[in-house]
Amino acid sequence: MQKQAEEILKQLTLDEKIGMIHGAQLFQTAGVKRLGIPPLKMSDGPMGVRQEFEPDNWKTIDHTDDYVTYLPCNSALAATWNRNLAYEMGSVLGEEARGRGKDVILAPGVNIKRSPLCGRNFEYFSEDPYLTGELAAPFIRGVQNWDVAACVKHFAANNQETERLWVEVEIDEEVLREIYLPAFYDAVKKGGSYTIMGAYNLLYGEHCCQNDFLLNQVLRKEWEYDGVVISDWGAVHDTEKAALSQLDIEMSVTPDFDQYYMAEPLKKKIEDGEIEESVVDEKVLRILKLMIKLHMFDKERKSGAYNTPEHRAKALDVARESVVLLKNEEGLLPLKKEDTKRVLLIGENAECIHSNGGGSAEIKALYEISPLMGIKTHLGGNAEVAYAQGYCREEKQEEQDTNWQERSLENGGGSTKTAEAGNQSLEEKRDQLRREAVSLAAEYDTVIYIGGLNHDHDSEGNDRENMKLPYEQDLLIKELLLVKPDMIVVMIGGSPVDMTAWIEQVYTLVWGWYAGMEGGNALAEVLFGEINPSGKLPETFYKNHMDCSAHALGEFPGGKSVAYSEGFYVGYRYNDKYDVAPAFCFGHGLSYTIFSYENAWLDREQKKLICTVKNVGQYDGAEVVQVYERSKDSRYVQELKGFEKVFIKAGEAAEVTVTLEELPEDTVWAVGSSSRDIRLIVE
Ligand code: BGC
Repeated sequence: MQKQAEEILKQLTLDEKIGMIHGAQLFQTAGVKRLGIPPLKMSDGPMGVRQEFEPDNWKTIDHTDDYVTYLPCNSALAATWNRNLAYEMGSVLGEEARGRGKDVILAPGVNIKRSPLCGRNFEYFSEDPYLTGELAAPFIRGVQNWDVAACVKHFAANNQETERLWVEVEIDEEVLREIYLPAFYDAVKKGGSYTIMGAYNLLYGEHCCQNDFLLNQVLRKEWEYDGVVISDWGAVHDTEKAALSQLDIEMSVTPDFDQYYMAEPLKKKIEDGEIEESVVDEKVLRILKLMIKLHMFDKERKSGAYNTPEHRAKALDVARESVVLLKNEEGLLPLKKEDTKRVLLIGENAECIHSNGGGSAEIKALYEISPLMGIKTHLGGNAEVAYAQGYCREEKQEEQDTNWQERSLENGGGSTKTAEAGNQSLEEKRDQLRREAVSLAAEYDTVIYIGGLNHDHDSEGNDRENMKLPYEQDLLIKELLLVKPDMIVVMIGGSPVDMTAWIEQVYTLVWGWYAGMEGGNALAEVLFGEINPSGKLPETFYKNHMDCSAHALGEFPGGKSVAYSEGFYVGYRYNDKYDVAPAFCFGHGLSYTIFSYENAWLDREQKKLICTVKNVGQYDGAEVVQVYERSKDSRYVQELKGFEKVFIKAGEAAEVTVTLEELPEDTVWAVGSSSRDIRLIVE
């Protein structure tokens, strides 16, 4: 491969080489026709292949050929704790990307969820580096199985949207290496990601896409990464630094492609003898090797496919396993289909479409089954399924802002969404919707509230100000619970919300995510017991954001810089150490059945922990056996080091084997159903 790439390189002129290392359109580089080198075609993103844009502006082309399979967001995937599903979902994305003729799919996002307020958390997996890496690696292998490159992003410490272009992350190097880098390491080492995207923010005084420490020292030297480094769109700020820092391709959001830092300005510096041409050669060589790996020069390349029934089935599989049953106190769930004759769904998320929002993760979904549609089709025509909106959003000044990306380099690139301004007509409208919903609720046998967030809040380019539920939902839920105490509450969102106002009053609480095109079907199946929920929280659900270390000990979102003073104590690592009770802990998720744990032991030679899990309840179901290391020498109370998901039929037992990477001395292993529901301790 090296030889073939070198042979091609020799034949290229400087102009041709320069064309290959920067965007020549918004989502592709220039090819070299005379030598049969195609352009490198890229597309977002993590939940499906994004719609087509004009080559040089952000107008969508709007043909009917770019509707795609809409996959659950990465937070939903992470809630499955299922490595096989991660592979399968990656494989769907890769096959669809190839089917759409792409070479690089700009996913997955593996940034650590440092604060629940980060607007892009829905694109990320978890607060835990191990869980993120364990799922990102198979996801990437799945993508790349289709002769398409994954592009793991955003390297590194890109944990907020506010001032994302200019914010300087102040972080101790040891913390960076222990918490924020391992998922990237796993993505490139275990997942073999062919490409990686540098982040917008600054680290140790330099933007990540021209950061010698990150790209040269860590990525190339220590991790021996030979793949292609792509900039985030508009994340480069200096020709010389970018050229010398091991960045391979500069992309941006503006149409002045020749003026990109690694375009004409770089060519000039080479011609003036300020930068060696070999710097460009290295980049082009890596790009050519990528093209060879992707079979871009041969006839053998896989052709992919999109919108296949199999892909929809996979989207459904992931959605089913992503639903997290947070609370089910009186066993109100599952509902019995045959006894459900009159149902009222309340809340805009019962019928909201999410696929078209969120920033660069937006897609044109072939379809999206809303919860309302899912429940209605599930129950059929003999049941009455009514809907009350209950609340409404702020009125939009304009229709969707389709050109947001073009403007995304303005004003620091992102901000914190502030509370909506009081507005009499909105208040009146909400009052009326609330009154209607409350009066209807009393009339129905079964009432299901479906609210939470949407992509006005979980979105690229903005962080949330706090965890409060928007649109006065707290008030609505409290009033509804007065007339309907057994109301089932379903929250949809990519990040936790503050539920303290009513959490003690609800018996049943379900968390759904942006769960893809089949999300509404999956939710209906869970509510009516055809699917036994097995999702587990991949992040701590704090009571409110001040219970999260980034806010309690550190800064978020900071100003020009942001101090990560909480250090290592991110997510449950903080809550355990500082004894801060969360609303729902990391790893939590209930089932309709009951699992009992027995006989855990360590196979030291094989580095495995083995235990027996029995399904002693009435439903078949899946359990995620979680193993936490508790070591005297550790800075943490406990740390996730292994997990395994198993399906066990009612009345049966399974021997579960959890692989551990290391078995340090003086360690006990806590085995359980969540980080705070430990069933066995093994020495
Ligand atoms: C985002 C990236 C995305 C790129 C291209 C940027 O705004 O940060 O995640 O891949 O745009 O759309």
